[in-house]
Amino acid sequence: MRFQRAVDVRCSRRKYLATPIDYGFVNKLRQLAEEYGEKAGVKILLEIKNGEAFKGFKKSYGLFSGVNNYIGLIENKNDKNSKEKLGYYGELLVLHATDLRLGTCWVGGTFDRSLCPFELASNESIACVITVGNVPNDKTLKEKLIHSATHRHSKSLDEMFVSDSTVPKWFSRGLSVVQKAPSAMNRQPVMFSFKNGAVSAFVKDPSEESLDLGIAKLHFELGAGAGVWDWGNGAEFHYPVNRR
Ligand SMILES: Cc1cc2nc3c(=O)[nH]c(=O)nc-3n(C[C@H](O)[C@H](O)[C@H](O)COP(=O)(O)O)c2cc1C
Repeated sequence: MRFQRAVDVRCSRRKYLATPIDYGFVNKLRQLAEEYGEKAGVKILLEIKNGEAFKGFKKSYGLFSGVNNYIGLIENKNDKNSKEKLGYYGELLVLHATDLRLGTCWVGGTFDRSLCPFELASNESIACVITVGNVPNDKTLKEKLIHSATHRHSKSLDEMFVSDSTVPKWFSRGLSVVQKAPSAMNRQPVMFSFKNGAVSAFVKDPSEESLDLGIAKLHFELGAGAGVWDWGNGAEFHYPVNRR
């Protein structure tokens, strides 16, 4: 599976080291951010050596320390699928960064948006950021506590889908990779459906959960090993007929 190792080892990291990110890695991430932003028609911007939006207890509620770099995911309000696309491509960047042995964390709430230096047009806003940087090998005690607090109620595979018949192996493989995906507060709000042979994914509240939808769709696609998604809540997944 593409990104197998990254999917298996990724977890949210909230303590960052002062060691700067290798120059070559910064260039690689910047190039990918540009490429994915163009593909999706959204802005994905890398902010390096600027942790102002996370400094002080009040801005990150004490959850983060040492943040010095982050990726800004800029929503285009004229495109109703832009948050979902940011979820999909933002998570692809997370997996690339994980392959480069960097730590990451999606952050929707615990930072100060007004201190992010992004130039925004009137139809744009910051949907989320992803912190990125060098991290200690082992999680700190605080990181372990946050992890166990957010993972108290992780969903089983059976709680993640509805179907009208036995699901194929590639569908189950897709779901097991979705189980390892990050989601806001670890709510895992995305449901998958297998009905009349058609696969789709949906959330109850698209205004809150579209980033999670895009992230989960990417993980499903990686696990299924082939196929493409249509954008949108409730949209279909197209698995190649010759592989069924
Ligand atoms: C869209 C989104 C927003 C998030 N916002 C925050 C946040 O504001 N603060 C935070 O500490 N973690 C945040 N997280 C991280 C989640 O808490 C984390 O992904 C979840 O608990 C699962 O843990 P894991 O990433 O270690 O697997 C966010 C994750 C996502 C996907």
